[in-house]
Amino acid sequence: MTETIIKLEHLQKSFGKVQALKDVTFALPQGEVLGFLGPNGSGKSTTIRILLGMLKKDGGSAAVFGEDPWHDDLSIHPRVSYIPGDVYLWPNLSGGEIIDLLLRLNDHEHNAKTDELIKIFQFDPKKKARTYSKGNRQKVALIAALSQDAELYIFDEPTAGLDPLNELTFQNEVLKLKAAGKSVLLSSHILSEVERMCDAIVIIREGVVIENGNLAQLQHLSRLHIKVQTKKSLEEVAKLKGIHEIHFGDDAKMIADFDVDRAEMGAVMDALAAREIVDLTSTPPTLEDLFMHYYAEHQGSDQHDTQ
Ligand SMILES: Nc1ncnc2c1ncn2[C@@H]1O[C@H](COP(=O)(O)OP(=O)(O)OP(=O)(O)O)[C@@H](O)[C@H]1O
Ligand SMILES: [Mg+2]
Repeated sequence: MTETIIKLEHLQKSFGKVQALKDVTFALPQGEVLGFLGPNGSGKSTTIRILLGMLKKDGGSAAVFGEDPWHDDLSIHPRVSYIPGDVYLWPNLSGGEIIDLLLRLNDHEHNAKTDELIKIFQFDPKKKARTYSKGNRQKVALIAALSQDAELYIFDEPTAGLDPLNELTFQNEVLKLKAAGKSVLLSSHILSEVERMCDAIVIIREGVVIENGNLAQLQHLSRLHIKVQTKKSLEEVAKLKGIHEIHFGDDAKMIADFDVDRAEMGAVMDALAAREIVDLTSTPPTLEDLFMHYYAEHQGSDQHDTQ
């Protein structure tokens, strides 16, 4: 039987008049990577702080390893490794000293994994923290968190400020955690950043979870948007399986844009190539695309929100 590592039901939290969390329900089963997506201010960090016992919930229920994060934080914390959304560093210590300090604060030691991470993230641990760029400050938190052997990893926007190469290094580390059977909660505001790592995705907006499912269930999330120009008409291509919302940009139908299911990408690319591609761009769906999709499906249901 798979253990449920995180379980949230109808979680609520207000700060004065601001209701940061209105209805947050999701679960993280053991050994899975869960992408927690939402725009700025949607409630990701607030949810994470409740999970870590840093904030007290107002309503609903929250459990980590089946325990209450507010009351049982002492037994939960040794099993969790965390990267905060706002990384604070002591300015006069070097990156290396801070990494070791963060490790000791969590009852861990600098280990072989720490050295490996310093190398693969190409991090210079000798400089004072006040001289680090945003990306380097983020690396301090990443290296400390990934050096710890834990059962649950909670990463709040871990790749903020990282360049694409370091982002890829981070993604590969998460895939290694997953292969080792660890559970990971990963927050982000960019869908394409987390998609490769996640078994399931939860989308939060204005304190309410609006989408929740595994990637297959959320197939519509993984459609790519294609813009293409060819030398022959695309009229027949429009009829292919997996193509949605095609619009033509010219009378001869040699310029088009459409969404395509990833599963059909190969067949669609073959069909496009047969019509001699002149130009082609593909863009992954953004969170905004998903919100549009959500509101198209839930027309008018928003009107009840103003009570
Ligand atoms: N300590 C606090 N006091 C008052 N309001 C707060 C506090 N923390 C968060 N909020 C408010 O709660 C809402 C949710 O904030 P939260 O930090 O959880 O969002 P987020 O999804 O993590 O955003 P971001 O992507 O910018 O990190 C926001 O309206 C924010 O202003
Ligand atoms: Mg945040």
